[in-house]
Amino acid sequence: MDLPRHIRYQPYHEWTKEDLKAIKTKVAASPWHCHYHVEPASGLLNDPNGFSYFQGQYHLFYQNWPFGPAHGLKQWVHMTSTDLVHFKETPTRLLPDHQHDSHGAYSGSAYPLDDRLFLFYTGNVRDNKWRREALQVGAYMDQAGQIVKCDKVLIQQAEDVTEHFRDPQIFDYQGQIYAIIGAQNLAKKGIIKLYKAINRNVENWQFVADLDFDNPQTAYMIECPNLVFIDHKPVLIYCPQGLSKDQLAYDNIYPNTYQVFDAFDPENGRLVGGGQLQLLDSGFEAYATQAFNDPKGQALAVSWLGLPDIDYPSDVYDYQGALSLVKHLTLKDDQLYQYPVKASQSLRQSQEIFQDKAETSNTYELELQIPANNFTKLSLFANPKEKTGLQITINTKDGQLTMDRSQVGVQYATDYGTSRSCQIPSQGVTLNIYVDQSIVEIFVNKGQSVLSSRVFPKKKESGISLLSGQADGHYYQLRK
Ligand code: FRU
Repeated sequence: MDLPRHIRYQPYHEWTKEDLKAIKTKVAASPWHCHYHVEPASGLLNDPNGFSYFQGQYHLFYQNWPFGPAHGLKQWVHMTSTDLVHFKETPTRLLPDHQHDSHGAYSGSAYPLDDRLFLFYTGNVRDNKWRREALQVGAYMDQAGQIVKCDKVLIQQAEDVTEHFRDPQIFDYQGQIYAIIGAQNLAKKGIIKLYKAINRNVENWQFVADLDFDNPQTAYMIECPNLVFIDHKPVLIYCPQGLSKDQLAYDNIYPNTYQVFDAFDPENGRLVGGGQLQLLDSGFEAYATQAFNDPKGQALAVSWLGLPDIDYPSDVYDYQGALSLVKHLTLKDDQLYQYPVKASQSLRQSQEIFQDKAETSNTYELELQIPANNFTKLSLFANPKEKTGLQITINTKDGQLTMDRSQVGVQYATDYGTSRSCQIPSQGVTLNIYVDQSIVEIFVNKGQSVLSSRVFPKKKESGISLLSGQADGHYYQLRK
């Protein structure tokens, strides 16, 4: 929603308790609240931030403007989890309350240092002419959730970038600490800058290089870069805004992409032996995915199920955005697989043989086998009487899966098309489909392809119909 700037940047202390209460009352009236996905307590949720493991639990923050469904003065909201499925919001906030983050505590990452969690993020600063400066700043969170900010700027806006310089990801590699930061160079091309913490001191950064990753520089900005290691192979996940569609076909306003490499050569600032650039998710919504290697070494990722510069039907209820399930990342034959962490199965409450249902609570998982040489059409969020629903077509002859949301729910973002497709192997496939009120996440062959989307169903759009072809498997009712 487009709200005037003076509202979006009104200092937090000027909002009264009554203002927030009125907003929360409106939020509560929405019919679309999720049951097992993270949503904002109020206002807008965007990027996942600070995904980490610290003091025996997982920590995850999200970007938030609490006062409405717009991109305003951003803070981080803190959550913890022991199983990566159930997240508990804590009272901790990384507030935009310092001269170095006065216009927003923008996205960043976290790194555990003994008994404190270091938060490395972008301070968005504007002067009175609304000129922006992007500063990379830091803070420490202790075990009680108290946050103390570093007084100095850790990395100043580099001279060869524009004001678009943000989203530091901090990570370990062979005993050293590095950070990559998304940027736009002076030629207005998207790049990634690589820094190293001198003597592992996270307050002392040295520039290494503009990361060389076979970047053809067709994008005008790269947001939210992440480097994770899977079976020793570096996987670079990032959001190249304005990427040429000749380089990679996509329909969303901005894509979230990844590339698998053979090796990371930090001394020379290079990723070596890059595979093809690919879409991380083929659905309508997945952006700003944040990934990290946890102490067990497993690569975990979580995405914002939303996109910048898009209005959502939930805006009328004063909120917007949700996070995806947490996905475990693995590689098979250099192809990335993304699949909900094992503990997601603990959401299963009861099991039934899959068959048509006139009505459900829109809170379930389907696990289906689609045989080879089949043309299967499935309708979810279906209203069989009105013949509306989210149509999923699985063609195991030609090897294509298509999701069409033109005949379901409140329509939005239709300028970017109403269907999304991805290739699937032309043989039998397994589908795991998670439905949660206004979210659908489809995992093909346990994560070989993923399609994540929002759907804002109208009343009575809650059925399941198999319209043609074959699909066998189970329906699992999921718990809240
Ligand atoms: C991506 C993004 C980041 C930025 C944050 C601000 O969605 O634009 O680049 O840090 O959102 O909320």
